Amino acid sequence: MTDYANLNCLHDIGCGQLRAQDIGKTVTLTGWVNSRRDHGGLIFVDLRDRSGIAQIVFDPQVIATDGFEQGERMRPEWVIAASGLVRARPDGTVNPSIASGEVEVLLNQVQVLNSALTPPFPIAEGIETDELIRMRWRYLDIRRPEVLRAIELRSQVTTSLHKAMTERGFIQVETPILGRSTPEGARDFLVPSRLSPGEFYALPQSPQLYKQLLMVAGLERYYQIARCFRDEDLRADRQPEFTQLDVEMSFVDDNDVMEMIEGVMQQVMAEAGYDFERPLPRMTYAEAMGRYGNDRPDVRFGLELVDVSDIVHDSGFQVFASAVAQGGVVKAINAKGAGDLSRGEIDKIAQVATDHGAKGMAWIAFTTDGQAKSPIIKFFNDSEFAALQAALAVEPGDLVVFGADDFETVSAALSAVRLYLAELMDVPRDAPGLLWVVDFPMFYRDPDTGQLQVHHHPFTRIKDKDLDKLESDPLACISYSYDMVMNGYEIGGGTLRNHTPQSQLAILKALGFTDEQAKEQFGFLLEALAYGAPPHGGVAYGLDRVIMLLGGFNSIRDVIAFPKTSSGADPMTGAPTPVEAIQLREAGIRII
Ligand code: AMO
Ligand code: AMP
Repeated sequence: MTDYANLNCLHDIGCGQLRAQDIGKTVTLTGWVNSRRDHGGLIFVDLRDRSGIAQIVFDPQVIATDGFEQGERMRPEWVIAASGLVRARPDGTVNPSIASGEVEVLLNQVQVLNSALTPPFPIAEGIETDELIRMRWRYLDIRRPEVLRAIELRSQVTTSLHKAMTERGFIQVETPILGRSTPEGARDFLVPSRLSPGEFYALPQSPQLYKQLLMVAGLERYYQIARCFRDEDLRADRQPEFTQLDVEMSFVDDNDVMEMIEGVMQQVMAEAGYDFERPLPRMTYAEAMGRYGNDRPDVRFGLELVDVSDIVHDSGFQVFASAVAQGGVVKAINAKGAGDLSRGEIDKIAQVATDHGAKGMAWIAFTTDGQAKSPIIKFFNDSEFAALQAALAVEPGDLVVFGADDFETVSAALSAVRLYLAELMDVPRDAPGLLWVVDFPMFYRDPDTGQLQVHHHPFTRIKDKDLDKLESDPLACISYSYDMVMNGYEIGGGTLRNHTPQSQLAILKALGFTDEQAKEQFGFLLEALAYGAPPHGGVAYGLDRVIMLLGGFNSIRDVIAFPKTSSGADPMTGAPTPVEAIQLREAGIRII
């Protein structure tokens, strides 16, 4: 038996790194058996490690009998170390599909380091295995090249972020994971305290208040690659724990923050192969909602929403007339080139609208042979119909779809329809997809409770020009706020903060806090602001989303080593699980 130590291990070179220039060298490789082929006395194994694949050859003329027999027994995913001479592959056997394809290693020694069960799915690119199965054996899934690539990209992006932030004078500070609950809009994950029975820590939804306190502490420029925890309903771009690039700066205004972080993103994204021009375009929240029905618009394609309220408010179509009469809007999208869709296909579009809250979706189809088809044309007079077509730049072959309701309902429905149409019509998405959405209203009214809510978080500062409206017309107050949007995803967001106790208290009061409640929940912040807090502001990026988009993945689960399912579970470890009765007793908890 060959001794592992004698094999000069660990390996000399990665399997995927072997090249023609290595011909003539003796090397040791370590890795996993990707595949094995028996060929008339010779055995060929594709050996795989993180760097790629190399072909190794067992030739009974060269390797001792016990080595050759090991080659005969080898199965996929066995772990081996193998040494031999790098040689050119014979003419006609070069494999251009792998980087080491010009060479192979003729073995003189081999050692099986471990055997392996047959994996539940092939360790290969582009498999169709159900995601749940892949997550159950995630350590095998990560052996697959595309998953490995995501994890490597993540490491690379994180490393360049550290570099970019350090270069700009930011210092890295770790903030507590066991903290006090601070409102960021989601539910907290709670951790019971054994030492104070009946009391709980909250896992941070973000380091928001700690980073502000670091500004009071005089750090001026803070950053952290921070883990955040939010107990919310999960989606493809949401996980219960995720990672932020978290940033805070003192003595800055909103432009300073945006310009600084744009530079960071340009540098980091360029290293990952994504270039963009600066300064990035900026669109106000109001414009984004108006044109796209959405505060994270995918601006890579058109299909914009057009307000036709003024054209149709007097029309005979009651749905439209009454929507406008009740203070709502009628908006439309020209789905270019969809005018010949079948009724069934149009019904599917309408289904998307109703799935997103619309009561219906009226439409007019302008067929390529010059007809206009729709149950609602009869309600419009000639000038209304002409004005509609002009407003939407209608040509033969177009389909116009309508939403009529209050602004929020129409926006939600038509923005979903817009994305669906882009998929359906395979609309090219080649325009730049990065922009800032700025100037969010400070508040909105929760349609269910009627309560004022904040768009970002309650530490956000209202624009100076709007301060006098805080009590009289809070919904008209715009905040110093900016979200970075990429391809229809919100990848980052930030605001300037209230740096005086007075302005912070005023926001809390507008949100319905009494002085006592504000003191009780935010006393430590209000106190800190009274000790000479500098003007400050910051931003946080969803690192998982950034990496998902840079790598062309569909879900942030693809770029997280050990993600959770949409129900928050980890199929591999089984978390969450019940715990021992004694653990509950120690934490002072009884399950009901
Ligand atoms: P915000 O709540 O907007 O701001 O979060 C910042 C960014 O984090 C990402 N993100 C998420 N990613 C994955 N899963 C989630 N559940 C999730 N939730 C948010 C988004 C988002 O843009 N403290 C403030 C920032 C600040 O004001 O400085 C904050 O956390 O990409
Ligand atoms: P109805 O008069 O209910 O038969 O509706 C006529 C057309 O208007 C149908 O295509 C409906 O889907 C559509 N419609 C109904 N309510 C709305 C609405 N709120 N917004 C847009 N279209 C609607």
